[in-house]
Amino acid sequence: MMTTTELEEMVEKKTGQHVVKMKGVSKIFPNGNVAVDNVDIDIADGEFISFVGPSGCGKSTIFKMISGLVENTTGEIEILGSQVQTAQQKRTDVGFVFQDATLLPWRSVLENVMLPLEFQRMSKVEKREEAERALKLVGLKDYAKSLPRQLSGGMKMRVSIARALVAKPKLLLMDEPFGALDEITRQSLQSELLRIWESQKMTVLFITHNVFEAVYLSTKVAVMTPSPGKIASTVNVSLPFPRDDEIRTTHQFSDIVARVSRDLKF
Ligand SMILES: Nc1ncnc2c1ncn2[C@@H]1O[C@H](COP(=O)(O)OP(=O)(O)O)[C@@H](O)[C@H]1O
Ligand SMILES: [Mg+2]
Repeated sequence: MMTTTELEEMVEKKTGQHVVKMKGVSKIFPNGNVAVDNVDIDIADGEFISFVGPSGCGKSTIFKMISGLVENTTGEIEILGSQVQTAQQKRTDVGFVFQDATLLPWRSVLENVMLPLEFQRMSKVEKREEAERALKLVGLKDYAKSLPRQLSGGMKMRVSIARALVAKPKLLLMDEPFGALDEITRQSLQSELLRIWESQKMTVLFITHNVFEAVYLSTKVAVMTPSPGKIASTVNVSLPFPRDDEIRTTHQFSDIVARVSRDLKF
């Protein structure tokens, strides 16, 4: 006979349910700053989860711990079924996108997208094909030969997303990726991102200050409290996919925005 826990573990393994598991995770920096305080969260495969919370509440630190750039002080972190690895053991199943596109100015768009494949055992032709595929996903296949300075801010961000997608990550971490863009560009990139997420079957973790953005994009919103960072609540966003722009004007949408905003105030 199996115990209930064993059975649960087996079912979990079989369905590959959790891409990220954090239990009792805290981060105290050497100077005494408590950046993250006792966070528990399990993120299921295929989820799109946004973290919202005031500046300094520990959102980026959570992402850095998940990616192995910062070591957790307490607790357990499991990513894609194994303990979180240190930054030295570079893994290709986790991709990152930051607010700043950080493209190499002397490299063409295509060459920038090929960067993460540099050390992979793959022929030059295959690398090129993968980069072209990623550029096509973000709608930039005609700009392969352009240089970053010839692109608008929104296009640079698309290149940065293509670069993160080129190694086909199972988990994509996005830290305020659209924070520097104007509202119109931001909204069109949000729709693009949802389309990519649905077609690539990956899990996305997304940081934003913008409650509307969080609700539009996500299956769940994790609301964080001011420093030291804790997760105050996790709000389910039960809006259907695919989500078109009109969804932003529905009552259901505003109700969820109101719920997240209320939780943010505590
Ligand atoms: N390397 C560091 N050393 C000391 N304190 C840090 C360091 N990095 C971040 N912090 C502090 O940890 C807290 C959380 O930071 P961060 O995760 O960047 O917040 P957020 O991304 O939510 O704005 C802040 O108080 C910040 O000052
Ligand atoms: Mg941050």
